Amino acid sequence: MKTPEFNVNAAAAELEGRHPSEILRLALGQFKRVAISFSGAEDVVLVDMAVKIDPRVQVFSLDTGRLHPETYRFLEHVREHYGVQLEALAPESAALEKLVREKGLYSFYRDGHRECCGIRKVMPLRRKLATLDAWITGQRRDQSPGTRAAVPLVEADSAFSTPEHPLVKFNPLSRWSSAQVWDYIRENNVPFNELHNRGFISIGCEPCTRPVLPNQHEREGRWWWEEETIKECGLHANNAAKIGGR
Ligand code: ADX
Ligand code: SF4
Repeated sequence: MKTPEFNVNAAAAELEGRHPSEILRLALGQFKRVAISFSGAEDVVLVDMAVKIDPRVQVFSLDTGRLHPETYRFLEHVREHYGVQLEALAPESAALEKLVREKGLYSFYRDGHRECCGIRKVMPLRRKLATLDAWITGQRRDQSPGTRAAVPLVEADSAFSTPEHPLVKFNPLSRWSSAQVWDYIRENNVPFNELHNRGFISIGCEPCTRPVLPNQHEREGRWWWEEETIKECGLHANNAAKIGGR
């Protein structure tokens, strides 16, 4: 199916200042092949808002095999609570087995996270995005001053688009603060990952995520052995270019 004509700049202007659920309404209305990329953390608010617009909304999670048990339980809870089809995308077994055979299960502490994230997250994401014309993420500007300060509400996805297959990326929460997200969760009785009760703010894979101390930024709990500027795993590789180009 051909990608529908969609003017990103016009949409960006129209969506400025709108509530995230209005952005979702536009995304779900404009695209048939669109899905929410759900990490199992506070981006659950996107699922809550989207099912109220379209209960058949597509949701997928990148099942790296290294998520916390709490996150797996939460993904299942979300599936049941909202009655959504939640697709869990697994890494390609040959690539994963080769990595583990050659470098073991914790190579990221020595070599950096890119190779492991590439196999466990980026390759499965690329496979999924090949079936979509647009995707929806829970990225916010306040999540990472180093890499996400310029995340727009909607953009042409320069990381995963190809000339034959342009892809639109919606970030409906980009202008919301963490406080707004958590107000929404409380006001709407949205279920949340129990790790949030134990000091985790940003949640990724178990070996690469830890709770933060008071006054530490949430991103400091992710890949804490690495520099702030390289704390993107490839899902949102185009963020660095936006910061660099500002
Ligand atoms: S990450 O790139 O550093 O891992 P982060 O955890 O901040 O990303 O989440 C930002 C957004 O990326 C999430 O709201 C979600 O849309 C997407 N995302 C991150 N991890 C996953 C995952 N495991 N499965 C699906 N989407 C994910
Ligand atoms: Fe691998 Fe850590 Fe990336 Fe998960 S976050 S895919 S365990 S490097």
